[in-house]
Amino acid sequence: MVNNTTAAVENLERKGFLDLEIDPTLDLFAEIERLKKEKNAILLAHYYQEPDIQDVADYIGDSLGLAQKAASTDADIIVFAGVHFMAETAKILNPTKKVLLPDLKAGCSLSDSCPPAVFQRFKEKHPDHIVISYINCSAGIKALSDIICTSSNARKIVEHLPEDQKIIFAPDKNLGAYINKVSNRKMVLWNGACMVHELFSLEKITRLKERNPDAEFIAHPECEDALLNIADFIGSTTQLLTYTKESKSNSFIVATETGILHQMEKQSPDKTFIPAPPDNSCACNDCPHMKLNTLEKLYLCMKHKLPEITMPEDLRLAAKTPIDKMLELSKELGIG
Ligand code: 13P
Ligand code: SF4
Repeated sequence: MVNNTTAAVENLERKGFLDLEIDPTLDLFAEIERLKKEKNAILLAHYYQEPDIQDVADYIGDSLGLAQKAASTDADIIVFAGVHFMAETAKILNPTKKVLLPDLKAGCSLSDSCPPAVFQRFKEKHPDHIVISYINCSAGIKALSDIICTSSNARKIVEHLPEDQKIIFAPDKNLGAYINKVSNRKMVLWNGACMVHELFSLEKITRLKERNPDAEFIAHPECEDALLNIADFIGSTTQLLTYTKESKSNSFIVATETGILHQMEKQSPDKTFIPAPPDNSCACNDCPHMKLNTLEKLYLCMKHKLPEITMPEDLRLAAKTPIDKMLELSKELGIG
């Protein structure tokens, strides 16, 4: 998204401002805590952030939890340790607050797979359908949607609608196909996917399961159908975390971004967590966008109150209606 703030930050980057050496003797954890108090800022972090960032956050959650927290905070500044669509959602809900993202380039392959102008034409081909969009999309796509959902409430939101309601589901074809299957729906799916969750190797996971017969295989619904078919439990990051705490099993093969393992290990220190192997030669199932944020960038972002998320007011208002609908429905359906 190119706007004045982006241009300003790029200008500062060119001048080397963001590369300023941070005093190596500085305790960044203490500095971030100090800045939070000084600026009345809340630090929200997704489970896919690096462990240091999770450890200094005020709230760690999945996309729904983070949106709910952003909607209810009375802090003056929201520092969002996550990706652009998450910080953008926080801004849509909080027009008068400053919303900061440590690295403005932290995007999302799923969000990028659905450009608003192309989606508008897709929508025109299905005039009698409503649009349910996964929160992993741009404000432009949200503005073209009727209801937003996340991985923790998508199924319940779809199922609360009449069975004959025609629906376009965007942008994640894997989450959409999973809901079509479990809810016996025929939603029209946009052909988008997450680069991290499409990377897992069915063959390697099958072998890993054979070598660890007592381990439960748990997966995020952004994974492909073949993987979800062999999963013992499917859920959002928060739901996966809760499941590992409550299950009697002592070991788990986890098919989602590896950042979540930090909380799983912290909350169940006696259990074993094995990251599901990807279909490549390295073990890199980290999200390259999420991992653009670092403790150093977080510190600089809080110190200088930059980079900031901004957007035109008409776009914000159009994108807010389907997010509000999601938040109302989540309350009504008792999710989150
Ligand atoms: P949840 O936060 O809903 O589990 O989704 C995971 C994800 O991919 C966020 O980008
Ligand atoms: Fe996007 Fe996938 Fe990264 Fe989540 S894990 S931010 S869906 S690319």
